Amino acid sequence: MKKYYLLTPGPTPIPPEVALKEAMPILHHRTSEFGQIFKDTAEGLKYVFCTQQEVYILAGSGTAAMETAVVNFLSAGDEIIVASCGIFGDRWKNIAKAYGVKVIDVSVPYGEAVKPEEIEKALKENPNVKAVFTTFTETSTGVANDIKAIGKIVAGFKAILVVDAVSGLGGQEFLTDAWEVDVVVSGSQKGFMLAPGLAFITVSKKAWELAEKSTLPKFYFDLKKYKKSYLTDETPFTPPVTLIVSLNQAIKMIQSEGLENMWAQYALLAKATRAAMQGLGLELFAKVPCEVVTSVKVDESIGSKIVKLLRDNYGVSIAGGQGAMKGKIIRFAHMGYIGKADLLVGISCLEMALTQLGVNVKCGAGIGIAEEVLLKG
Ligand SMILES: Cc1ncc(COP(=O)(O)O)c(C=O)c1O
Repeated sequence: MKKYYLLTPGPTPIPPEVALKEAMPILHHRTSEFGQIFKDTAEGLKYVFCTQQEVYILAGSGTAAMETAVVNFLSAGDEIIVASCGIFGDRWKNIAKAYGVKVIDVSVPYGEAVKPEEIEKALKENPNVKAVFTTFTETSTGVANDIKAIGKIVAGFKAILVVDAVSGLGGQEFLTDAWEVDVVVSGSQKGFMLAPGLAFITVSKKAWELAEKSTLPKFYFDLKKYKKSYLTDETPFTPPVTLIVSLNQAIKMIQSEGLENMWAQYALLAKATRAAMQGLGLELFAKVPCEVVTSVKVDESIGSKIVKLLRDNYGVSIAGGQGAMKGKIIRFAHMGYIGKADLLVGISCLEMALTQLGVNVKCGAGIGIAEEVLLKG
């Protein structure tokens, strides 16, 4: 019998209390009973996003919220700045291109963090820019971007700031209002400790003003419909009721743990993981590492083999590299319902897998360092 350990940067494992909620009888979505759950959940989302703005719930994955952010605020021919540092930042460019939006590209090589000063320069040089799109924690590389600094810059221009916080939210400090982020998108399957299928989006007053001028086609993802339904604790279309009921449970757990405590816990797990990898003689890929996923360079000849061996032999799922990074890096998640013991299992199995693949590592070298870091707290 195989036991599974999910250490991938989404989907992440979910707590049994959350999973059980998905097994509850289906509620009809136009009832006061569901309305109350929706209302509590929507309020709870404000806590996780650190915002006073409404957070809209969409049926879809994180990319659905990304596309929503493009079609609701822009028109064909508009100019936007995209500051990308990985596959998910590049997704902003691809969505924009699909809708005929012009991209001013201030991307950086994979592994680096985007440069706030480059965004400022581009905003000064291009006064017609409607929005700046970037990523909080770039899951494909393990890099964290300085959204606080970017927020301060963009607030001084008429452009809005749109941030993909699909993987970082809940896992690392992110203050939507205090950092002046106009639109934040996220998804259920990472820091929220939930199954995939829900996407979330916030909209500031400045962004709503821009929405008034947007002419890109939209129907299912037209945020005005969601804003109207929100007033009666509903969604415009049939919501995934079971996911919202389980989200309600997950948010209660996040609230009882406290966001700050969760951020501190993931920071500790990240520190232990990074130290363990370096202890094994492996090199970190991210120049500015985030707290939710650790990316590590590996020899291309064994990159994909490590992931497969860990999964097939040990039941441990980690992620490999995506796109141009395929085979060159491996990625360990420490977000959502992943704890110290899960991480130790992952590191220990990695040591064994590397040994099996002929890499000269000392079994116990990484795990010992991780234990020391975790013990110090
Ligand atoms: C930072 C980031 N943005 C966007 C996405 C895309 O989300 P989804 O796969 O849920 O559409 C992901 C998913 O891995 C992500 O990590």
